[in-house]
Amino acid sequence: MSEAKSLMAEPSDTGRFGEFGGRYVPESLVPACRELEAAFRVAWADPAFHAEYESLLRDYGGRPTPLTECTNLSKQLGIRLLLKREDLTHTGSHKINNVIGQALLTKRMGKQRVIAETGAGQHGVATATAAALFGLECVVYMGEVDVERQALNVFRMRLLGSEVVPVGSGSRTLKDAVNEALRDWVANVESTHYCIGSVMGPHPYPWMVREFQRILGTEAREQCRALLGGRDPDVVVACVGGGSNAAGTFSGFVDTAARLVGVEAAGGAAIGHGIPGVVHGMKSFLMQDEHGQVAEDPSATDDEVLRAFELLARAEGIIPALEAAHAIAWVLAAAERRELTPGSTVLVTLSGRGDKDVAQVMDMVNARQ
Ligand SMILES: Cc1ncc(COP(=O)(O)O)c(C=O)c1O
Repeated sequence: MSEAKSLMAEPSDTGRFGEFGGRYVPESLVPACRELEAAFRVAWADPAFHAEYESLLRDYGGRPTPLTECTNLSKQLGIRLLLKREDLTHTGSHKINNVIGQALLTKRMGKQRVIAETGAGQHGVATATAAALFGLECVVYMGEVDVERQALNVFRMRLLGSEVVPVGSGSRTLKDAVNEALRDWVANVESTHYCIGSVMGPHPYPWMVREFQRILGTEAREQCRALLGGRDPDVVVACVGGGSNAAGTFSGFVDTAARLVGVEAAGGAAIGHGIPGVVHGMKSFLMQDEHGQVAEDPSATDDEVLRAFELLARAEGIIPALEAAHAIAWVLAAAERRELTPGSTVLVTLSGRGDKDVAQVMDMVNARQ
């Protein structure tokens, strides 16, 4: 089995994908993980759950999202570029697919409170939205640096009735917010569901989040086949933060001949160049410093990403999230160095819209001048 295929298989009974995954949590959280796993297994085998989940994503979430052919950019690059438009979902990113699923499970487990942590704020906004819809109390942890960077999303979450707690410890970014959310979960595990937004955390989260994002890949595959006369794209590209839009996208194409490309923020999730270690309840590739501490994720906003952001806006009238601009940046660079065969079909998951990033991009553009 290829590495990609094994990662798309069911995890082992202990939640492992090969050597990765697992459940590295304090003893007090094991029952909550087991309860969640049992609730998810029952729900995922229940046609009534699927019907409710899918109708919510259709009537509330805006699915199916379109597949857009980028005719202008395709001409410029000499390839056929298709975008899976997760930016057009309610709340503006793929995060809603997972959050609606977990909110339904929260209700099924009889819990009244959800907690989440967020970096760029899209997962927090999606969680706050689902909490409003389902009448759940919601607390979102966010590093102080991210609170400043994403002020608009912080205000959105508060408008939706959620409490946003700025986290001032450590580097004051996402990993510190995760630690704070875990602390809350330990203290309130009876009443509270921890809504994790990526394919990370202890078992069953990586598996469950991938399954909730599968809808993205399944739709994209059907839409590509309809557009391409039954063929699959040659290359499928997704950006990788915690890995959920990539896992959802690739789940639709892992059994095809398409080349699957996950594009990280510089030094991001460290696939391929990190070393295995344990963080936030699972074993994964990690960037670590010489003391085995998790290293900081360098800035994701380099020149190539800014160029991709601007080019997509100008050529196609689509302003992408900075995360998704990484995937576009890879396509631009690969087309230029002829790594993409001229005429080949390339599908990119546009994981979100750029509204949240416009102020930051404005600063970057001004700094360049
Ligand atoms: C629009 C968008 N794309 C991608 C990501 C990265 O997450 P993941 O790798 O789980 O899809 C985020 C994270 O917040 C996001 O907001």
